[in-house]
Amino acid sequence: MEQVDLLILGAGAAGLFCAGSALRQGRRVLVLDHAGNPGEKIRISGGGRCNFTNLATAPDRFLSRNPRFSASALSRYGARDFVRLVDQAGISWHEKTQGQLFCDGKATQITRMLLDRMQGAELRMQTALHTVSHDGIGFMVETSAGTVRAAQLVVATGGKSIPKIGATGFAYDIAAQFGLRMVETRAALVPLTFAEQELALCRPLAGVSVEAEIRHGGGGFRDALLFTHRGLSGPVILQISSFWTPGETLRVNLAPDHDIASELKAGRGQAGRVSVASALGRFLPARLAAAICEETGLTQARLADQPNKRLEAIGARVNGWQVRPVGTEGYRTAEVTLGGIDTRDLDARTMQARKMPGLFFIGECVDVTGWLGGYNFQWAWASADAAGRA
Ligand code: FDA
Repeated sequence: MEQVDLLILGAGAAGLFCAGSALRQGRRVLVLDHAGNPGEKIRISGGGRCNFTNLATAPDRFLSRNPRFSASALSRYGARDFVRLVDQAGISWHEKTQGQLFCDGKATQITRMLLDRMQGAELRMQTALHTVSHDGIGFMVETSAGTVRAAQLVVATGGKSIPKIGATGFAYDIAAQFGLRMVETRAALVPLTFAEQELALCRPLAGVSVEAEIRHGGGGFRDALLFTHRGLSGPVILQISSFWTPGETLRVNLAPDHDIASELKAGRGQAGRVSVASALGRFLPARLAAAICEETGLTQARLADQPNKRLEAIGARVNGWQVRPVGTEGYRTAEVTLGGIDTRDLDARTMQARKMPGLFFIGECVDVTGWLGGYNFQWAWASADAAGRA
């Protein structure tokens, strides 16, 4: 039977980083994964350029039943630490917006850097994991390539998002097996879907993007909103999806810099002969302005002829559009899984299970979910480093 000091399950962001942090003289570290290639999510992240961290990383950028849990790991391994590694590897990067750092080139440079950093550890792909047990001395993992025995076991198999590239609920099963509690999981950073009524507006506008602001359930974001054939997407929708639960209505401000009712009323005096649609088109994409006018029966109407009440109704429609999603696109397209292994059962400094010494959980499988913008990778690096050093 093969014997190692540290066995890491999952060769994604957290698993690869943990292997690099755990390497010490004479220590045998093995990483196993069932996929064909390591770091598949890194490869597809950030539109292929990997938003590898965020300079504004702080515990308040993460959702968790214990909002302070991430503080320890993030304070010991921060965004600047990862940027230093990226610089040392000669990978050029740029800040896109709001502290989000992206590679100038391909995301796979990050995976290459992680693989170089863990030289000395062994990585074995295309290895199915069957069972995990503990015999009182160490862990035994049955795999498609035989049994591996390990003094310490790190579970880094991620969450359930994007099963097509290898995501499974394996980490949650292992946690349950060893008596750790779970916080209910659901798809997050995910497009929202709508019923026919709203789709009548969204569908013809598919591809139209507008800067919008949404405040909901403790989250507040301002960013691009994208109409799709099935509902709404874009960064502001992905962000708010983490704060939305089914059945809730969202209030969307489609023109956050303008009080539309006041602007239209003022416009009536200055350029009253224009149509309502073109007046509205000063603040919104023309197609969206036209669709809203059509919805309210004002396609040809002149601004000058509209009473205050009607302009106020349009203002409310634009500045406070109320929509009730019927659901999300689910794990098929979600960037992350909200919820996961309950942090009450993990040590925040080391990510070790409180009741099972030697067993660690890191990365997305833990109930720590970042906002969109590089926070989730930063959590993967920080939690992996905490476990790797422990
Ligand atoms: P990760 O999912 O990376 O790795 C888990 C590994 O475990 C995988 O290699 C998988 O094959 C393996 N595995 C799973 N089940 C197994 C089993 N049963 N047996 C064996 N192996 C198993 N974040 C961010 O900060 N910036 C960004 O730009 C993006 N962009 C982005 C785009 C898209 C499309 C997605 C889906 C996600 C993002 N993310 C992101 C989120 C980010 O990718 C995610 O938070 C991290 O990859 C999580 O790292 P982990 O190592 O925990 O899981």
